[in-house]
Amino acid sequence: MPAELIDGTAIAARIRGEVSAEVATLKATGVVPKLTVVLIGDDPASAVYVAGKARACIEVGMEEDTIRLPASTSQHELMELLDRLNGDSSVHGILVQSPFPRQIEPGAVIRRIDPAKDVDGFHPVNVGKLFAGDRDGFVPCTPAGIQQLLRQSNVTTHGLHCVVVGRSNIVGKPMAALMLQDAPTANCTVTICHRYTRDLGSFTRCADILITAVGRPGLITADMIKPGAAVLDVGITRIPDATRKSGTRLVGDVDFEAARQVAGLITPVPGGVGPMTIAMLLRNTVRAAQRLAAA
Ligand code: GUN
Repeated sequence: MPAELIDGTAIAARIRGEVSAEVATLKATGVVPKLTVVLIGDDPASAVYVAGKARACIEVGMEEDTIRLPASTSQHELMELLDRLNGDSSVHGILVQSPFPRQIEPGAVIRRIDPAKDVDGFHPVNVGKLFAGDRDGFVPCTPAGIQQLLRQSNVTTHGLHCVVVGRSNIVGKPMAALMLQDAPTANCTVTICHRYTRDLGSFTRCADILITAVGRPGLITADMIKPGAAVLDVGITRIPDATRKSGTRLVGDVDFEAARQVAGLITPVPGGVGPMTIAMLLRNTVRAAQRLAAA
């Protein structure tokens, strides 16, 4: 029997609905949650992502402001802007879209954002809180979204072996930390694999939950999946496809059609993990507004 599909679009829509209700409650108290996104340069993919985030904010009734800066922006100018946003009480969430131009040091940018407004969850304070199991930090949006997909799909994760392929600061490392926590939809035994892992399949075949976030189409073949496993694919790569009107299509890291015959649960690409990232960004922003309003 083919795997059950995890419908990320439907689950994300449900979360957006919950966020809308929380925004309405905050607005009734005079607080309008606001996300400020900083976009530096003219990377076309970043422009598309930022437009999606802006649209989502408006749809749930939040305020959104995209500050577009030229690719020539200096580190000093960006720091000054972040200081101003940190001090602006009408701004609850700050996100600087990556990648950055070469002259900007990513670590310095992340460290400059007030951790209370760091809705990406990338600031060392929030990273530390996640690893320490302190629930009042912000969890990066994609791992938080994947945990939600597991929760909403009624996967009992306790004691399962979760294998994460990819060790980025945005997905792999926080994903592993999240599934390791002593908490609901966690309590897993966790393994992290990366490009130097020898015999990747020997690890993935032991995974009850397999999460892959690499960006290499076809990396995970059906023979690398344990029968009945939950497979969550964060990879998103555009490949040529002459059968499509656009000439291209999006694929994940998993050989989807073959994997579907082995897995128990699986996310499609697109329509799986992707929609959850923005939904969790909205949720983090409304949380930031709730906490800042209560402070
Ligand atoms: N670039 C790609 N994904 C992300 C993200 O989640 N946050 C930020 N700030 N930049 C990104």
